[in-house]
Amino acid sequence: MAKAKTSFSCAECGNVTSKWSGRCEACGAWNSISEDAGISDGPAATSLGQARGRAVALTDLSTEETPPPRSLSRLGELDRVLGGGLVDASAILVGGDPGIGKSTLLLQAAARFAQSGVKTIYISGEEASAQVRMRAQRLGLADAPVKLGAETNLRDILTTLEQEKPRLAIIDSIQTMWADNVGSAPGSVSQVRAAAHELTTFAKRKGMSVVLVGHVTKEGQIAGPRVVEHMVDTVLYFEGERGHQFRILRAVKNRFGPADEIGVFEMTGQGLAEVTNPSALFLSERGTPAPGSVVFAGIEGTRPVLVELQALVAPSPHAQARRTVVGWDGSRLAMILAVLEARCGIPFAGLDVYLNVAGGMKISEPAADLAVAAALLSAREDTALPAECVVFGEISLSGALRPVGQGENRLKEAAKLGFTSAIVPQGGKLAGTEGVALSRVGDLAAFVGEHFGAG
Ligand code: TYD
Ligand code: MG
Repeated sequence: MAKAKTSFSCAECGNVTSKWSGRCEACGAWNSISEDAGISDGPAATSLGQARGRAVALTDLSTEETPPPRSLSRLGELDRVLGGGLVDASAILVGGDPGIGKSTLLLQAAARFAQSGVKTIYISGEEASAQVRMRAQRLGLADAPVKLGAETNLRDILTTLEQEKPRLAIIDSIQTMWADNVGSAPGSVSQVRAAAHELTTFAKRKGMSVVLVGHVTKEGQIAGPRVVEHMVDTVLYFEGERGHQFRILRAVKNRFGPADEIGVFEMTGQGLAEVTNPSALFLSERGTPAPGSVVFAGIEGTRPVLVELQALVAPSPHAQARRTVVGWDGSRLAMILAVLEARCGIPFAGLDVYLNVAGGMKISEPAADLAVAAALLSAREDTALPAECVVFGEISLSGALRPVGQGENRLKEAAKLGFTSAIVPQGGKLAGTEGVALSRVGDLAAFVGEHFGAG
Protein backbone atom coordinates (compact mmCIF):
# COMPACT_ATOMS: atom_id res chain seq x y z
CA MET A 1 0.00 0.00 0.00
CA ALA A 2 1.25 3.47 -0.78
CA LYS A 3 2.31 5.49 2.24
CA ALA A 4 -0.14 8.28 3.08
CA LYS A 5 1.41 11.58 2.00
CA THR A 6 1.74 14.26 4.65
CA SER A 7 0.94 17.75 3.55
CA PHE A 8 1.44 21.12 5.16
CA SER A 9 -0.64 24.20 4.78
CA CYS A 10 -0.37 27.88 5.56
CA ALA A 11 -2.81 29.28 8.11
CA GLU A 12 -2.76 32.67 6.41
CA CYS A 13 -3.39 31.82 2.77
CA GLY A 14 -4.17 28.10 2.79
CA ASN A 15 -1.35 27.22 0.38
CA VAL A 16 -0.55 23.50 0.51
CA THR A 17 3.05 22.25 0.29
CA SER A 18 4.73 18.90 0.69
CA LYS A 19 7.32 20.08 3.20
CA TRP A 20 7.42 22.36 6.19
CA SER A 21 9.18 25.70 6.08
CA GLY A 22 9.35 28.70 8.37
CA ARG A 23 7.97 31.07 5.77
CA CYS A 24 5.11 30.52 3.39
CA GLU A 25 6.30 30.68 -0.23
CA ALA A 26 2.91 31.81 -1.46
CA CYS A 27 2.07 34.72 0.85
CA GLY A 28 5.33 35.33 2.70
CA ALA A 29 3.85 34.89 6.20
CA TRP A 30 6.20 33.63 8.90
CA ASN A 31 5.48 30.70 11.22
CA SER A 32 2.11 30.05 9.62
CA ILE A 33 2.74 26.56 8.23
CA SER A 34 1.59 23.47 10.04
CA GLU A 35 1.08 19.83 9.21
CA ASP A 36 -2.32 18.72 7.98
CA ALA A 37 -3.57 15.68 9.78
CA GLY A 38 -5.83 13.23 8.02
CA ILE A 39 -7.01 15.20 5.03
CA SER A 40 -4.71 15.43 2.06
CA ASP A 41 -5.38 18.10 -0.49
CA GLY A 42 -2.86 16.78 -2.95
CA PRO A 43 -3.68 15.00 -6.17
CA ALA A 44 -6.30 12.28 -5.63
CA ALA A 45 -4.71 9.21 -4.10
CA THR A 46 -6.66 6.79 -6.28
CA SER A 47 -7.62 7.07 -9.92
CA LEU A 48 -11.31 6.98 -10.75
CA GLY A 49 -10.95 3.56 -12.36
CA GLN A 50 -13.26 2.16 -15.04
CA ALA A 51 -16.67 2.67 -13.45
CA ARG A 52 -18.84 5.06 -15.46
CA GLY A 53 -20.55 8.05 -13.94
CA ARG A 54 -23.85 9.55 -14.91
CA ALA A 55 -24.09 12.22 -17.60
CA VAL A 56 -24.49 15.74 -16.25
CA ALA A 57 -27.52 17.70 -17.48
CA LEU A 58 -26.27 20.70 -19.47
CA THR A 59 -28.20 23.92 -20.05
CA ASP A 60 -27.86 26.98 -22.28
CA LEU A 61 -26.62 30.28 -20.95
CA SER A 62 -29.91 31.82 -22.06
CA THR A 63 -31.99 29.64 -19.71
CA GLU A 64 -34.15 32.00 -17.62
CA GLU A 65 -33.25 32.04 -13.97
CA THR A 66 -35.46 33.54 -11.30
CA PRO A 67 -33.57 35.68 -8.79
CA PRO A 68 -32.80 33.73 -5.60
CA PRO A 69 -35.29 34.23 -2.76
CA ARG A 70 -34.01 36.48 0.01
CA SER A 71 -34.90 37.24 3.60
CA LEU A 72 -34.47 40.68 5.11
CA SER A 73 -33.05 41.20 8.58
CA ARG A 74 -34.32 44.80 8.53
CA LEU A 75 -30.89 45.73 9.80
CA GLY A 76 -30.57 47.96 6.75
CA GLU A 77 -26.79 48.19 6.77
CA LEU A 78 -26.43 44.40 6.90
CA ASP A 79 -29.07 43.77 4.24
CA ARG A 80 -27.36 46.17 1.87
CA VAL A 81 -23.93 44.59 2.33
CA LEU A 82 -25.48 41.18 1.62
CA GLY A 83 -26.72 42.59 -1.69
CA GLY A 84 -30.34 43.13 -0.64
CA GLY A 85 -30.92 40.58 2.10
CA LEU A 86 -29.85 37.07 2.93
CA VAL A 87 -30.07 34.62 0.02
CA ASP A 88 -31.69 31.33 1.03
CA ALA A 89 -29.28 28.38 1.23
CA SER A 90 -26.19 30.55 1.01
CA ALA A 91 -22.99 30.34 3.03
CA ILE A 92 -21.50 33.50 4.50
CA LEU A 93 -18.21 34.07 6.26
CA VAL A 94 -17.90 36.99 8.65
CA GLY A 95 -14.24 37.62 9.49
CA GLY A 96 -12.66 40.15 11.79
CA ASP A 97 -10.20 40.77 14.60
CA PRO A 98 -11.08 39.27 17.98
CA GLY A 99 -13.13 41.69 20.06
CA ILE A 100 -14.23 43.84 17.13
CA GLY A 101 -17.91 42.95 17.63
CA LYS A 102 -18.67 39.96 15.39
CA SER A 103 -20.64 38.07 18.04
CA THR A 104 -22.57 41.22 18.91
CA LEU A 105 -23.44 41.89 15.26
CA LEU A 106 -24.53 38.33 14.60
CA LEU A 107 -26.58 38.03 17.76
CA GLN A 108 -28.40 41.22 16.75
CA ALA A 109 -28.81 39.91 13.20
CA ALA A 110 -30.06 36.54 14.52
CA ALA A 111 -32.65 38.31 16.64
CA ARG A 112 -33.83 40.46 13.73
CA PHE A 113 -34.08 37.51 11.36
CA ALA A 114 -35.94 35.47 13.97
CA GLN A 115 -38.33 38.37 14.60
CA SER A 116 -39.03 38.56 10.87
CA GLY A 117 -40.06 34.90 10.85
CA VAL A 118 -36.82 33.23 9.77
CA LYS A 119 -36.19 30.25 12.03
CA THR A 120 -32.72 30.93 13.41
CA ILE A 121 -30.27 28.91 15.48
CA TYR A 122 -27.21 30.50 17.04
CA ILE A 123 -24.45 28.07 18.01
CA SER A 124 -21.68 29.48 20.16
CA GLY A 125 -18.48 27.52 20.54
CA GLU A 126 -16.80 30.31 22.45
CA GLU A 127 -19.24 31.32 25.15
CA ALA A 128 -21.61 29.45 27.43
CA SER A 129 -25.33 29.86 26.73
CA ALA A 130 -25.68 31.92 29.91
CA GLN A 131 -23.11 34.41 28.62
CA VAL A 132 -24.88 34.75 25.28
CA ARG A 133 -28.21 35.18 27.06
CA MET A 134 -26.71 37.89 29.25
CA ARG A 135 -25.48 39.70 26.17
CA ALA A 136 -28.90 39.35 24.54
CA GLN A 137 -30.49 40.91 27.63
CA ARG A 138 -28.02 43.76 27.54
CA LEU A 139 -28.90 44.29 23.89
CA GLY A 140 -32.62 44.24 24.72
CA LEU A 141 -33.13 41.13 22.61
CA ALA A 142 -34.09 38.62 25.28
CA ASP A 143 -37.55 38.15 23.76
CA ALA A 144 -36.34 37.33 20.25
CA PRO A 145 -37.26 33.76 19.22
CA VAL A 146 -33.66 32.70 18.56
CA LYS A 147 -32.68 29.15 19.53
CA LEU A 148 -29.36 29.07 21.30
CA GLY A 149 -26.80 26.30 21.66
CA ALA A 150 -23.30 26.12 23.14
CA GLU A 151 -21.40 23.34 21.40
CA THR A 152 -18.19 22.68 19.53
CA ASN A 153 -18.72 19.10 18.37
CA LEU A 154 -19.55 19.30 14.69
CA ARG A 155 -21.31 15.94 14.57
CA ASP A 156 -23.69 16.99 17.36
CA ILE A 157 -24.28 20.35 15.72
CA LEU A 158 -25.15 18.79 12.36
CA THR A 159 -27.53 16.33 14.04
CA THR A 160 -29.21 19.21 15.85
CA LEU A 161 -29.56 21.23 12.66
CA GLU A 162 -30.92 18.17 10.86
CA GLN A 163 -33.61 17.78 13.53
CA GLU A 164 -34.48 21.44 14.01
CA LYS A 165 -34.40 22.41 10.31
CA PRO A 166 -33.71 26.13 10.79
CA ARG A 167 -33.55 28.47 7.80
CA LEU A 168 -30.47 30.16 9.23
CA ALA A 169 -27.69 28.81 11.41
CA ILE A 170 -24.97 31.01 12.86
CA ILE A 171 -21.75 29.28 13.89
CA ASP A 172 -19.61 31.39 16.25
CA SER A 173 -16.80 30.65 15.56
CA ILE A 174 -15.48 28.28 12.90
CA GLN A 175 -12.16 28.09 14.77
CA THR A 176 -13.78 26.45 17.78
CA MET A 177 -15.52 23.73 15.77
CA TRP A 178 -14.20 20.24 16.12
CA ALA A 179 -14.79 17.38 13.70
CA ASP A 180 -14.05 14.03 15.36
CA ASN A 181 -12.85 12.42 12.13
CA VAL A 182 -9.97 14.87 11.82
CA GLY A 183 -7.04 14.17 14.07
CA SER A 184 -5.74 17.65 14.74
CA ALA A 185 -6.63 20.29 17.32
CA PRO A 186 -9.57 22.71 16.92
CA GLY A 187 -8.43 25.84 15.13
CA SER A 188 -5.86 24.03 12.98
CA VAL A 189 -6.08 24.41 9.23
CA SER A 190 -7.43 20.91 8.68
CA GLN A 191 -10.11 21.27 11.37
CA VAL A 192 -11.25 24.67 10.12
CA ARG A 193 -11.31 23.47 6.56
CA ALA A 194 -13.16 20.26 7.39
CA ALA A 195 -15.72 22.03 9.61
CA ALA A 196 -16.37 24.74 7.04
CA HIS A 197 -16.71 22.15 4.29
CA GLU A 198 -19.17 20.03 6.31
CA LEU A 199 -21.26 23.02 7.33
CA THR A 200 -21.44 24.63 3.90
CA THR A 201 -22.27 21.41 2.05
CA PHE A 202 -24.83 20.50 4.72
CA ALA A 203 -26.41 23.93 4.34
CA LYS A 204 -26.61 23.67 0.54
CA ARG A 205 -28.09 20.18 0.77
CA LYS A 206 -30.74 21.17 3.29
CA GLY A 207 -31.56 24.57 1.81
CA MET A 208 -30.42 26.34 4.98
CA SER A 209 -28.27 29.46 5.15
CA VAL A 210 -25.19 29.32 7.32
CA VAL A 211 -23.09 32.16 8.71
CA LEU A 212 -19.59 31.23 9.83
CA VAL A 213 -17.71 33.59 12.14
CA GLY A 214 -13.94 33.56 11.71
CA HIS A 215 -11.23 35.33 13.66
CA VAL A 216 -8.49 36.94 11.67
CA THR A 217 -5.26 36.38 13.50
CA LYS A 218 -1.62 36.13 12.70
CA GLU A 219 -0.78 33.49 15.30
CA GLY A 220 0.37 30.30 13.66
CA GLN A 221 -1.89 27.90 15.55
CA ILE A 222 -5.19 29.39 14.53
CA ALA A 223 -6.18 29.07 10.90
CA GLY A 224 -7.27 32.37 9.46
CA PRO A 225 -10.60 32.59 7.66
CA ARG A 226 -8.72 32.79 4.37
CA VAL A 227 -8.79 29.00 4.06
CA VAL A 228 -12.59 29.18 4.14
CA GLU A 229 -13.10 32.06 1.71
CA HIS A 230 -13.38 29.94 -1.43
CA MET A 231 -15.98 27.61 0.10
CA VAL A 232 -18.57 30.28 0.84
CA ASP A 233 -20.75 32.50 -1.36
CA THR A 234 -20.16 35.70 0.51
CA VAL A 235 -17.21 36.99 2.53
CA LEU A 236 -17.76 39.93 4.83
CA TYR A 237 -15.09 41.56 6.95
CA PHE A 238 -15.94 43.47 10.08
CA GLU A 239 -13.34 46.17 10.56
CA GLY A 240 -12.65 49.09 12.80
CA GLU A 241 -10.10 50.60 15.12
CA ARG A 242 -10.35 49.50 18.72
CA GLY A 243 -10.21 53.09 19.95
CA HIS A 244 -13.00 54.24 17.65
CA GLN A 245 -16.66 53.40 17.94
CA PHE A 246 -17.12 53.06 14.15
CA ARG A 247 -17.34 49.56 12.69
CA ILE A 248 -17.42 48.82 8.99
CA LEU A 249 -18.88 45.67 7.53
CA ARG A 250 -17.29 45.22 4.13
CA ALA A 251 -18.22 42.72 1.42
CA VAL A 252 -15.02 41.46 -0.21
CA LYS A 253 -16.70 38.65 -2.15
CA ASN A 254 -20.36 38.24 -2.94
CA ARG A 255 -21.87 35.81 -5.42
CA PHE A 256 -25.25 37.46 -4.91
CA GLY A 257 -24.47 41.16 -4.89
CA PRO A 258 -21.85 43.81 -5.42
CA ALA A 259 -18.50 43.33 -3.69
CA ASP A 260 -16.96 46.42 -2.04
CA GLU A 261 -20.27 47.41 -0.48
CA ILE A 262 -19.98 48.66 3.08
CA GLY A 263 -22.30 48.93 6.04
CA VAL A 264 -21.43 51.32 8.83
CA PHE A 265 -22.20 50.72 12.49
CA GLU A 266 -21.40 52.42 15.73
CA MET A 267 -20.56 50.36 18.84
CA THR A 268 -22.62 51.69 21.72
CA GLY A 269 -23.42 50.49 25.22
CA GLN A 270 -26.50 48.78 23.76
CA GLY A 271 -24.72 46.99 20.95
CA LEU A 272 -24.25 48.06 17.36
CA ALA A 273 -26.31 50.92 16.04
CA GLU A 274 -26.75 51.45 12.31
CA VAL A 275 -25.22 54.57 10.84
CA THR A 276 -27.35 55.61 7.92
CA ASN A 277 -25.38 58.77 7.20
CA PRO A 278 -21.71 57.75 7.49
CA SER A 279 -20.38 61.03 6.08
CA ALA A 280 -21.85 63.01 8.95
CA LEU A 281 -20.30 60.55 11.40
CA PHE A 282 -16.85 60.54 9.79
CA LEU A 283 -16.78 64.32 9.68
CA SER A 284 -18.27 64.83 13.12
CA GLU A 285 -14.91 65.14 14.84
CA ARG A 286 -13.62 67.69 12.37
CA GLY A 287 -12.86 71.05 13.91
CA THR A 288 -12.03 74.28 12.12
CA PRO A 289 -10.10 73.80 8.88
CA ALA A 290 -6.47 73.16 9.75
CA PRO A 291 -3.38 72.73 7.60
CA GLY A 292 -3.06 69.09 6.56
CA SER A 293 -6.76 68.34 6.77
CA VAL A 294 -8.69 67.73 3.55
CA VAL A 295 -12.14 66.25 2.96
CA PHE A 296 -12.25 63.55 0.30
CA ALA A 297 -15.54 62.83 -1.44
CA GLY A 298 -15.35 59.06 -1.89
CA ILE A 299 -17.60 56.23 -3.02
CA GLU A 300 -17.85 53.06 -0.97
CA GLY A 301 -19.80 50.38 -2.77
CA THR A 302 -22.94 52.07 -4.00
CA ARG A 303 -22.83 54.95 -1.58
CA PRO A 304 -20.95 58.26 -1.45
CA VAL A 305 -18.99 58.79 1.77
CA LEU A 306 -17.08 61.89 2.80
CA VAL A 307 -13.99 61.30 4.90
CA GLU A 308 -11.31 63.53 6.33
CA LEU A 309 -7.69 62.91 5.35
CA GLN A 310 -5.06 64.22 7.75
CA ALA A 311 -1.41 64.72 6.92
CA LEU A 312 1.52 65.81 9.01
CA VAL A 313 4.85 66.74 7.47
CA ALA A 314 7.80 67.52 9.75
CA PRO A 315 11.61 67.68 9.43
CA SER A 316 13.01 64.22 10.06
CA PRO A 317 15.61 63.62 12.76
CA HIS A 318 16.43 60.28 11.12
CA ALA A 319 18.74 59.53 8.22
CA GLN A 320 15.82 57.76 6.55
CA ALA A 321 12.67 59.86 6.68
CA ARG A 322 9.52 58.09 7.87
CA ARG A 323 6.43 57.41 5.78
CA THR A 324 3.53 56.28 7.96
CA VAL A 325 0.07 55.61 6.55
CA VAL A 326 -3.12 54.57 8.30
CA GLY A 327 -6.16 53.71 6.17
CA TRP A 328 -4.55 54.20 2.76
CA ASP A 329 -2.05 52.36 0.59
CA GLY A 330 1.61 52.98 1.44
CA SER A 331 2.91 52.43 -2.09
CA ARG A 332 0.28 54.78 -3.50
CA LEU A 333 1.54 57.43 -1.05
CA ALA A 334 5.11 56.87 -2.28
CA MET A 335 3.86 57.34 -5.84
CA ILE A 336 2.15 60.63 -5.03
CA LEU A 337 5.24 61.92 -3.22
CA ALA A 338 7.33 61.00 -6.27
CA VAL A 339 4.94 62.78 -8.65
CA LEU A 340 4.93 65.90 -6.45
CA GLU A 341 8.71 65.92 -6.53
CA ALA A 342 9.21 65.09 -10.21
CA ARG A 343 6.35 67.08 -11.78
CA CYS A 344 5.93 70.00 -9.37
CA GLY A 345 9.45 70.30 -7.97
CA ILE A 346 8.28 69.90 -4.38
CA PRO A 347 10.67 67.59 -2.53
CA PHE A 348 9.76 65.62 0.56
CA ALA A 349 13.28 64.32 1.17
CA GLY A 350 14.35 64.83 4.79
CA LEU A 351 10.73 65.23 5.87
CA ASP A 352 8.72 62.70 7.86
CA VAL A 353 5.28 62.16 6.33
CA TYR A 354 2.27 60.86 8.25
CA LEU A 355 -1.08 60.27 6.57
CA ASN A 356 -4.21 59.22 8.40
CA VAL A 357 -7.78 58.57 7.31
CA ALA A 358 -9.94 59.84 10.15
CA GLY A 359 -12.45 57.63 11.92
CA GLY A 360 -10.69 54.30 11.30
CA MET A 361 -11.91 54.19 7.70
CA LYS A 362 -9.87 52.39 5.02
CA ILE A 363 -9.80 53.85 1.52
CA SER A 364 -8.65 52.01 -1.58
CA GLU A 365 -9.99 54.27 -4.35
CA PRO A 366 -7.40 55.94 -6.61
CA ALA A 367 -9.91 58.80 -6.68
CA ALA A 368 -8.43 59.85 -3.34
CA ASP A 369 -5.05 60.68 -4.96
CA LEU A 370 -5.72 64.37 -5.35
CA ALA A 371 -7.09 64.67 -1.82
CA VAL A 372 -3.97 62.94 -0.48
CA ALA A 373 -1.74 65.28 -2.48
CA ALA A 374 -3.75 68.24 -1.21
CA ALA A 375 -3.38 67.10 2.40
CA LEU A 376 0.38 66.60 1.98
CA LEU A 377 0.85 70.01 0.35
CA SER A 378 -1.39 71.71 2.87
CA ALA A 379 0.63 70.21 5.72
CA ARG A 380 3.98 70.99 4.11
CA GLU A 381 3.09 74.59 3.26
CA ASP A 382 1.18 75.06 6.52
CA THR A 383 -1.76 76.45 4.56
CA ALA A 384 -5.33 75.24 5.05
CA LEU A 385 -7.57 74.69 2.04
CA PRO A 386 -10.78 76.77 2.01
CA ALA A 387 -13.32 75.57 4.56
CA GLU A 388 -16.28 73.59 3.18
CA CYS A 389 -14.28 72.31 0.23
CA VAL A 390 -14.14 68.68 -0.96
CA VAL A 391 -11.50 67.17 -3.23
CA PHE A 392 -11.37 64.14 -5.54
CA GLY A 393 -9.45 63.00 -8.62
CA GLU A 394 -6.89 60.46 -9.74
CA ILE A 395 -3.27 61.45 -10.37
CA SER A 396 -1.32 59.84 -13.19
CA LEU A 397 2.47 59.47 -13.19
CA SER A 398 2.74 62.36 -15.64
CA GLY A 399 1.12 64.63 -13.07
CA ALA A 400 -2.09 64.90 -15.10
CA LEU A 401 -5.39 64.65 -13.24
CA ARG A 402 -7.89 62.06 -14.40
CA PRO A 403 -11.63 62.30 -13.92
CA VAL A 404 -13.16 59.59 -11.75
CA GLY A 405 -16.50 57.80 -11.79
CA GLN A 406 -19.67 58.91 -10.01
CA GLY A 407 -18.61 62.55 -9.79
CA GLU A 408 -22.20 63.76 -9.54
CA ASN A 409 -22.94 61.48 -6.59
CA ARG A 410 -19.86 62.71 -4.78
CA LEU A 411 -20.87 66.33 -5.30
CA LYS A 412 -24.47 65.70 -4.24
CA GLU A 413 -23.28 64.15 -0.99
CA ALA A 414 -20.97 67.14 -0.43
CA ALA A 415 -23.84 69.57 -1.06
CA LYS A 416 -26.04 67.62 1.35
CA LEU A 417 -23.47 68.04 4.10
CA GLY A 418 -23.07 71.76 3.55
CA PHE A 419 -19.93 71.87 1.40
CA THR A 420 -19.89 74.75 -1.05
CA SER A 421 -16.87 74.11 -3.27
CA ALA A 422 -15.02 71.21 -4.83
CA ILE A 423 -11.63 70.76 -6.47
CA VAL A 424 -12.00 68.26 -9.31
CA PRO A 425 -10.07 67.13 -12.40
CA GLN A 426 -10.71 68.85 -15.70
CA GLY A 427 -12.32 66.83 -18.48
CA GLY A 428 -14.88 64.13 -18.18
CA LYS A 429 -18.57 64.81 -18.21
CA LEU A 430 -18.96 66.27 -14.74
CA ALA A 431 -21.77 68.82 -14.94
CA GLY A 432 -21.72 70.00 -11.35
CA THR A 433 -24.31 70.29 -8.64
CA GLU A 434 -26.26 73.26 -7.42
CA GLY A 435 -24.62 74.96 -4.47
CA VAL A 436 -21.13 73.53 -5.05
CA ALA A 437 -18.67 75.74 -6.94
CA LEU A 438 -16.30 73.67 -9.05
CA SER A 439 -12.62 74.43 -9.39
CA ARG A 440 -11.42 72.29 -12.31
CA VAL A 441 -7.70 71.63 -12.58
CA GLY A 442 -5.84 69.96 -15.43
CA ASP A 443 -2.72 68.78 -13.67
CA LEU A 444 -1.01 68.67 -10.34
CA ALA A 445 1.32 71.61 -11.09
CA ALA A 446 -1.69 73.81 -11.90
CA PHE A 447 -3.32 72.69 -8.66
CA VAL A 448 -0.20 73.62 -6.68
CA GLY A 449 0.00 76.99 -8.42
CA GLU A 450 -3.65 77.79 -7.78
CA HIS A 451 -3.97 76.73 -4.17
CA PHE A 452 -0.50 76.91 -2.68
CA GLY A 453 0.92 79.85 -4.59
CA ALA A 454 4.04 77.97 -5.72
CA GLY A 455 4.68 75.55 -8.57
P1 TYD B 1 -17.76 40.83 20.57
O1 TYD B 1 -19.01 40.84 19.79
O2 TYD B 1 -17.66 39.83 21.67
O3 TYD B 1 -16.48 40.67 19.63
P2 TYD B 1 -15.99 39.42 18.76
O4 TYD B 1 -17.07 38.43 18.70
O5 TYD B 1 -15.65 40.02 17.41
O6 TYD B 1 -14.76 38.90 19.41
O7 TYD B 1 -17.60 42.32 21.10
C1 TYD B 1 -16.62 42.60 21.99
C2 TYD B 1 -16.56 44.05 22.36
O8 TYD B 1 -17.70 44.82 22.14
C3 TYD B 1 -16.31 44.08 23.84
O9 TYD B 1 -15.01 44.64 24.02
C4 TYD B 1 -17.36 44.93 24.41
C5 TYD B 1 -17.99 45.62 23.25
N1 TYD B 1 -19.44 45.78 23.43
C6 TYD B 1 -19.98 47.04 23.54
O10 TYD B 1 -19.27 48.05 23.55
N2 TYD B 1 -21.35 47.19 23.68
C7 TYD B 1 -22.17 46.12 23.69
O11 TYD B 1 -23.39 46.29 23.79
C8 TYD B 1 -21.59 44.81 23.55
C9 TYD B 1 -22.45 43.60 23.57
C10 TYD B 1 -20.23 44.69 23.42
MG1 MG C 1 -17.08 36.52 19.58
